[in-house]
Amino acid sequence: MNIVVIGSGGREHAIIQKLAESPEITKIYTLPGNAGMKEAECVPVGAKDIPAIVDFAKSHDIGFAVVAPDDPLVLGCVDALEELGIPCFGPRANAAIIEGSKVFSKNLMKKYGIPTAKYEVFDSASDARAYCRTVTPPIVVKADGLALGKGVLICQTLEEADAAIGEIMEDRVFGESGRRVVIEEFLTGPEVSVLSFTDGNTVVPMISSMDHKRAGDGDTGLNTGGMGTVAPNPYYTPEVAARCMDEIFLPTIRAMNAEGRTFRGCLYFGLMITEDGPKVIEYNCRFGDPETQVVLPLLDTDLFTIMKATAAGNLADVDIRWKDAAACCVILASEGYPKKYATGYPLILPEKPKHGARIYVAGAKSADGVLVTGGGRVLGVTAVAPTLKEAVANAYDAAEDVHFENRYLRHDIGARALACKGE
Ligand code: AMP
Ligand code: GLY
Repeated sequence: MNIVVIGSGGREHAIIQKLAESPEITKIYTLPGNAGMKEAECVPVGAKDIPAIVDFAKSHDIGFAVVAPDDPLVLGCVDALEELGIPCFGPRANAAIIEGSKVFSKNLMKKYGIPTAKYEVFDSASDARAYCRTVTPPIVVKADGLALGKGVLICQTLEEADAAIGEIMEDRVFGESGRRVVIEEFLTGPEVSVLSFTDGNTVVPMISSMDHKRAGDGDTGLNTGGMGTVAPNPYYTPEVAARCMDEIFLPTIRAMNAEGRTFRGCLYFGLMITEDGPKVIEYNCRFGDPETQVVLPLLDTDLFTIMKATAAGNLADVDIRWKDAAACCVILASEGYPKKYATGYPLILPEKPKHGARIYVAGAKSADGVLVTGGGRVLGVTAVAPTLKEAVANAYDAAEDVHFENRYLRHDIGARALACKGE
């Protein structure tokens, strides 16, 4: 079967590498993909260009589509492909709104009693500012819509909150996403990412993971798309997992059904384990990046079988198994990321990475037939090992063999998880 994967980052490369193991798949196209994805044919069609994606699918005998990024999901890419009769992995637009609008997701949680930070919604900057004067900082200000992961501002003072509201609502730095804001109570506790497969009835959590969002060692510096991940996350104990299933995962699936917005695909729960128990920080309507780069290498079941069952509504019939192991992904970025950085430097990858590590390319392009850097996050190196300690050491060791100018990485991916385990 010919399949298509929409998207272009490291997450998509991890999905493609896993799908390439499936005996049923003969050809993988990726729109637009990137030059580092050797397992698929890259086609220069943008992930948000839904009419062009539909035209491509019509003319290439596509039997299944995986829509990975948030934008095309929110824009209705799955709706458009399903209209052609192509089964898809990913939610329709009416369910992708769970990520597309924070106002929607917060109201959903309030209505159905799903634990989350207390909040208020505002569509006027002056009302938002007045409200901030009634609460004690830190104050969390969030743009309602998609903002490339940058729409959340944690404000330590009232002045910072006033400025954040100005940027989002008055300067519209995130465009229309800033028409409304959510102002939220500041929660504390370790964060856990739980990606799940769901067909709208059954929900199967994947192995838990931990992202490292800040640019610098010791969780300092600017927020990024993610500088590395480990799985499993030691803060996600069996007790926490059981509470999450009863208080968060199943109630969310049921709530979406009750709203007539059945969610099928990967529902990502961004959780904080607070003193009062697990709470939802955010939902994403897709696989996380770079969480996918540690979760999928630990999957012991054919990913395509799971994706087809998710689309068809018979996920309960699939026995989903995980390796009894740990994984660590270290992101190699361009110096200067997430601000200004240079690209276009030759990218030298090892023929056979050490420790059986996997390389997931995120930002690369081809220049005169040579693979060169092409993004802030260039690639991720993932190692799988029996223990987290070995996985971390092996990922860093394998990363030594990847070379490009202005290479930047964090040196402490996994340190917090190892400390939690007392290692
Ligand atoms: P998000 O884009 O929603 O994942 O938010 C980015 C990051 O901001 C999260 O990973 C948290 O670290 C932090 N954050 C978001 N909401 C809150 C909150 N209510 N309290 C504390 N931290 C938060
Ligand atoms: N790693 C966070 C996200 O994918 O949103």
